[in-house]
Amino acid sequence: MAGVIVVGADGSAPGAAAVGWAADDAARTGAELRIVHALDRQPYAVTRFPDYGQGNYLLMAAAKVLEAAEVTARARQPSLRLHAQVVEGTPAAVLLDQARQADELVIGSRGLGGFAGALLGSVTMHVAGHAACPVVVVRAEGGGPVGEIGVGIGDSDVCEPAIGYAFEQARLRGARLRLIRAWRIPVHAFAPEIAYDVDEVRAAQHEAVRARTAGWRESCPEVTVVEDVQSAHPVEALTGAPCDLIVVGSHGRGAFGSLVLGSVSRGVLHHARCAVAVVRP
Ligand SMILES: Nc1ncnc2c1ncn2[C@@H]1O[C@H](COP(=O)(O)OP(=O)(O)OP(=O)(O)O)[C@@H](O)[C@H]1O
Ligand SMILES: [Mg+2]
Repeated sequence: MAGVIVVGADGSAPGAAAVGWAADDAARTGAELRIVHALDRQPYAVTRFPDYGQGNYLLMAAAKVLEAAEVTARARQPSLRLHAQVVEGTPAAVLLDQARQADELVIGSRGLGGFAGALLGSVTMHVAGHAACPVVVVRAEGGGPVGEIGVGIGDSDVCEPAIGYAFEQARLRGARLRLIRAWRIPVHAFAPEIAYDVDEVRAAQHEAVRARTAGWRESCPEVTVVEDVQSAHPVEALTGAPCDLIVVGSHGRGAFGSLVLGSVSRGVLHHARCAVAVVRP
């Protein structure tokens, strides 16, 4: 891939972490890095506030955000093809538009706004649910590299692009790939006599993981995989193992055709302690 990676910079710590992540990804793939800062004048357009020339100050502040982001990117990857731009508009709309032709969009888990307890910002949630390309959500407080990537293996073709993205990332990084599959015995409140052979169920789940990943294992033989089949809730299984990146599809079989995120993708975005990639079919 020698395409384009777009990253949203807003002057926040998670935004800076996103810029660093995007710079590293661009260096690995040979892509051009486009740093975008959306200048949203709308919050300052309330008529009762007189205009003391905010226009200029806002532009100057936006330029500073871009400058800092460029310094962050260059410090990480000095020889990147890099382009930085201020675009006027609401952040989510600007980022979605800029990422229309991109191979990847990288954003922080939060920004400068939000409220104290918020785990994710509104731009993050909206963009992760609507972008056409893979979206990587990066946290500021991520620890050092673990050398492992996790991917959720669902039971429909919807997760196919996510699996492909995960194998490609593992190959590029020389990381191990954890194929995570969570299953639970259905609870029948009024029919307790329905019993399941747990060993049989577990074996079938392993078989499903193998069937869904066989093609990728063949085309990426250099990637070491670990099968991780757990009796747990998918969000717990996906966020439980320490890794550098968790890859999920945008939704599962339940919400096929839906524009927004499925409950597992949303849960993982909220509860992961590392970066999360959401890959839309
Ligand atoms: N004006 C912007 N320009 C470019 N990217 C942005 C902008 N605002 C947010 N982003 C991107 O989105 C990420 C998440 O920010 P977001 O705005 O969703 O969180 P927040 O500011 O904490 O909450 P909220 O804005 O919903 O009150 C940022 O880290 C950044 O990558
Ligand atoms: Mg914000």
